[in-house]
Amino acid sequence: MLFEAYQLGGINLSKRIVMGPMTRCRAAQPGNVPTALMAEHYAQRASAGLIVSEGAPVSPQGHGYLWTPGIYTPQQVQGWKLVTEAVHGKGGHIFAQIWHVGRVSHISLQENGQAPVSAGGAAAQANCFAYDENGNPGNVPCSPPQPLTADGIRAVVEDFRRATANALAAGFDGVEIHGANGYLFDQFLNSQLNTRSDAYGGSLANRARLLLDAVDAAIAEAGAQRVGVRLSPHGGFNDMPEDPDTEAMVCYLAEELERRGVVYIHFMDQVSFGFKPIGEGLLREVKKRYRGTVIVCGGMSKEQGERYLAEGLADLIGFGQLFISNPDLPERLRRNAELAQPDQATFYGGGAAGYTDYPFLAD
Ligand SMILES: Cc1cc2nc3c(=O)[nH]c(=O)nc-3n(C[C@H](O)[C@H](O)[C@H](O)COP(=O)(O)O)c2cc1C
Repeated sequence: MLFEAYQLGGINLSKRIVMGPMTRCRAAQPGNVPTALMAEHYAQRASAGLIVSEGAPVSPQGHGYLWTPGIYTPQQVQGWKLVTEAVHGKGGHIFAQIWHVGRVSHISLQENGQAPVSAGGAAAQANCFAYDENGNPGNVPCSPPQPLTADGIRAVVEDFRRATANALAAGFDGVEIHGANGYLFDQFLNSQLNTRSDAYGGSLANRARLLLDAVDAAIAEAGAQRVGVRLSPHGGFNDMPEDPDTEAMVCYLAEELERRGVVYIHFMDQVSFGFKPIGEGLLREVKKRYRGTVIVCGGMSKEQGERYLAEGLADLIGFGQLFISNPDLPERLRRNAELAQPDQATFYGGGAAGYTDYPFLAD
């Protein structure tokens, strides 16, 4: 089934294989602008049914890593046009992942050296990629955050609206709102981190409100059939505490996203990062509540992907790291060809090495 066509909202995917979003920190400086090299990288991988771009910060405040390509300036929109045109030129499809890191940031990345923002005041015991005290780029501990104010919340929602408009102007087929991996929305969803007493903290509905406000803002720009959401239930990445409410929250979100008619929910199973798996039971609960497309990504093999499709646990299967080192991953899977393993040393930053120089299969 992986090689069957699939109708995703208004677009016809050639196969049920998704390239998961992957931050590679290669945007041009100054200004964090997408480049021709990035366009080449994505175009090489256009045989995926759908590509989800690396996370694109929606504002200067949304950055947590150096050299990540933003989606809030005219120059960035022009840069992303190179990417979308190159992917479409090869017959592919691409959504923009739009991103705010929340507390997973450092004062050296924030305007005027301000504290990053979050749901509450707890710092992430995690690293971001920023300037150290000597001004050198490297892994540095995340800075303690400040809780978002009411005005700050309105600004974030507006940033997601503008990012969606910019994504469409840049030629993307849709947007994926990054609600996963311990970043801003995940910080609000988590009952252990969200200590607020306003309308954005407390009950499930209140903790989900910021994410759903951003979803509504994106839908107002693009229509629900061009908006997806990424979630990572049970994920511990970026110092996320286990939340006893996780499954109830995912079921609540599935119902709310169904009501809004968003085109997909993309689950990041952090099992390949060493955390607890999402579990097939939770995916079945989602399927009872949400009739849109479900993507599952994380630790997938061809065999597991085929089983998830056959058992109706997912509609599309995402692959991350294998797409880094195998630009023609779908063809390799189809032929059961050998898979190249990625070099972690070139994941973040640098140029063509470990980015556009992984070979294709010889015919
Ligand atoms: C280098 C790298 C960068 C990543 N960047 C992002 C990102 O920007 N947004 C996101 O949602 N997930 C990101 N991920 C997670 C991947 O999308 C994917 O879910 C994860 O690698 C698990 O899939 P895999 O086991 O097939 O690699 C990243 C993963 C890697 C390896």
